[in-house]
Amino acid sequence: MIKAGVAGATGYTGIELVQLLHRHPHVEIGWITSASSAGKRLCDVHAVPWEYPLIALEEAYARAGEVDVVFLCLPHGQSIEPARRFAARGLCVIDLSADFRLGHPEAYRRWYGMEHPAPELLPQFVYGLCEVNRAQLRKARLIAVPGCYPTTVNLGLYPLAKAGWLEERVIVDSKSGVSGAGRTLKTPYLFVEANENMTPYNIGYRHRHIAEMEMVLNAASPNGGYRFTFSPHLLPVNRGILSTMYVRVPVGVTEAQVRDLYEETYAGEPFIHLLPAGQQASLRHTVHTNRCAISITPELPDDPTCRDLIIVATEDNLIKGASGQAVQCMNLALGFPETAGLL
Ligand SMILES: NC(=O)c1ccc[n+]([C@@H]2O[C@H](COP(=O)([O-])OP(=O)(O)OC[C@H]3O[C@@H](n4cnc5c(N)ncnc54)[C@H](OP(=O)(O)O)[C@@H]3O)[C@@H](O)[C@H]2O)c1
Repeated sequence: MIKAGVAGATGYTGIELVQLLHRHPHVEIGWITSASSAGKRLCDVHAVPWEYPLIALEEAYARAGEVDVVFLCLPHGQSIEPARRFAARGLCVIDLSADFRLGHPEAYRRWYGMEHPAPELLPQFVYGLCEVNRAQLRKARLIAVPGCYPTTVNLGLYPLAKAGWLEERVIVDSKSGVSGAGRTLKTPYLFVEANENMTPYNIGYRHRHIAEMEMVLNAASPNGGYRFTFSPHLLPVNRGILSTMYVRVPVGVTEAQVRDLYEETYAGEPFIHLLPAGQQASLRHTVHTNRCAISITPELPDDPTCRDLIIVATEDNLIKGASGQAVQCMNLALGFPETAGLL
């Protein structure tokens, strides 16, 4: 048994992570933190039966020696100092925020609007997209868990990019459940604003998650240089992301070849669910699971020369898009079966 600390356990990804760790066969929870509820118990803040005491981050630093791995479920910008301090104590650090996802401080400045306070740590973090970076994750001590939207887009397009079959222009239309915004009191996420409504936001070339799509798919592809139009929407459900991707493949590449490529790329992957021809990935395929479901549809019916494809990928934003993927990363890094605690 190893022991885990969870910083930010009262947030949406944090409480999901505590639930996953609670049933993990090789992990015990050492301590959990909250900024505003330190001194209370987890069951005072969430509808769970566990009386784990909530402590402040300062106390967690003092108790770093009690755990082997720390998960940081904190807002971006707030993970950097804890990551630095826990890494200095030799712990395995798994950060769910965006603070260590982009490998270069210039990219962080461009997309997050601030200088990275610990640029020396950036190259030490492995980007935790397990299906793509499994070999690096097996020996990683510092892991940056991918963003929720990019997990669907990158898994949905990785086989095409790797084969050099993804043409430059990529249009992505995504919808996310409201938990994607965190447990935060902001007007757009109030029930009356979000319910029976659907709102696009940061559409075009604005959303920060484009940086992760460019990073992963450009690196995977022999061609690179992808140009994204990305339009996220707030969908009035609690959880789940559905991304619809409009792509063009080279002349002569058929739907059957694309389907073979996906089957080959994802053969044996425990958390990738490829839908058969004619079926579409939906939120129900993945919500409350660590799976990503992917469907492939040629734009034109009955035309074997059709180069325009519509790829749909779905996930649970709090599980495969955050805490489940974080556990999958931990399993790889610490030598547990990759699916432990996730099936
Ligand atoms: N929500 C998603 O679907 C999702 C998916 C992928 C990645 N992420 C990323 O994961 C991270 C956590 O997201 P979330 O949705 O779980 O956020 P959240 O619901 O807002 O929770 C944030 C947590 O961090 C604590 N916290 C806030 N400010 C803090 C500070 N200054 N110092 C120490 N602790 C602080 C909060 O404590 P109290 O509230 O108890 O005070 C809470 O436990 C974010 O970086 C987010 O971008 C989220």
